[in-house]
Amino acid sequence: MQDKLTLMIPGPTPVPETVLQAMGRHPIGHRSADFQAIVRRTTEQLQWLHQTKNDVLVITGSGTAAMEAGIINTLSRGDRVLCGDNGKFGERWVKVAKAFGLEVEVIKAEWGQPLDPEAFRAALEADAAKAIKAVILTHSETSTGVINDLEAIAGHVRAHGTALTIADCVTSLGACSVPPGLSFVAMSERAWAAYECSDLPKFYLDLGKYRKSAKADSNPFTPAINLYFALEAALEIMQAEGLEAIFARHARHQRATSAAMKAIGMPLYAAEGHGSPAITAVAPEGIDAESLRKEVRKRFDILLAGGQDHLKGKVFRIGHLGFVCDRDVLTAVAAIEATLQDLGLAKVTVGAGVSAAAAELSR
Ligand SMILES: Cc1ncc(COP(=O)(O)O)c(C=O)c1O
Repeated sequence: MQDKLTLMIPGPTPVPETVLQAMGRHPIGHRSADFQAIVRRTTEQLQWLHQTKNDVLVITGSGTAAMEAGIINTLSRGDRVLCGDNGKFGERWVKVAKAFGLEVEVIKAEWGQPLDPEAFRAALEADAAKAIKAVILTHSETSTGVINDLEAIAGHVRAHGTALTIADCVTSLGACSVPPGLSFVAMSERAWAAYECSDLPKFYLDLGKYRKSAKADSNPFTPAINLYFALEAALEIMQAEGLEAIFARHARHQRATSAAMKAIGMPLYAAEGHGSPAITAVAPEGIDAESLRKEVRKRFDILLAGGQDHLKGKVFRIGHLGFVCDRDVLTAVAAIEATLQDLGLAKVTVGAGVSAAAAELSR
């Protein structure tokens, strides 16, 4: 059915009508006072979202641009870094770090398992010479639906004393519900001190330029103006809901989705207790996950995400981040159940998943 597609993928996420309408305005000049007011306002809103008074800089580019910016603005050629890798986005960190000539020590965990904070503690404690310049990791590993214990790992980094933590929070830090195209980098004072020494090549993603412009409520280059309109509207909606309520909603949707999948005999891919609030990866036994996903899309206009790399066909992922409500979760679960029934693959009475999800949602 035309215009009925519901996104239940980890990005792009659904976008509220108000945000779409805000975006549908005629662009304004990016050096105008009107645009400066929007930059000022969105910067304050982003500082609220990141719960920091530090600089939060806006890049026109997807999350990978912010990942690259994090590395090239704080590190130098040959620097030693620890990189957490337990999925596709951890792998991406390793690739970016290597592309810029860093000496990368990878701390791995199996896909589906969380990174082990103890492995970071041990490596950092062994570094008496303080050669490790940064610990780089993904908070919510979107490919596997695992949430890594960023707090514990960052605690070990602080105990080390000199290394920085560089974290990808693309699917963990309050999903903004705007179309893709903007990414944000929050820089601490220590990160700026590292910036002063960093010798990696940079031009478009030189955050010093962004900091200078931000002081004048501006951008160094032409930003995605209409995405800024969307950002302002989306952050207003988020502020009205409040951070605690947003966190609680995501936790509830994760519980409901996981309970539903377990109730219909579909094992979760992420290790028990380490599921991301943003996304639930499901590893259906004896079922081709891609066929199921395609059928759900065809029959119900609900887009689920597939498995990446070696997980293709083995895993499907239900995104429940951003502008997602209880109805979306119930509908997705019902669509999965109905599709399993259609395909003759339902293992239990159809409705068991909806019932389990509904019970969690009403708790
Ligand atoms: C954990 C994570 N990191 C980074 C990204 C950024 O990827 P891209 O630049 O392809 O949007 C994503 C996007 O899905 C993500 O989920």
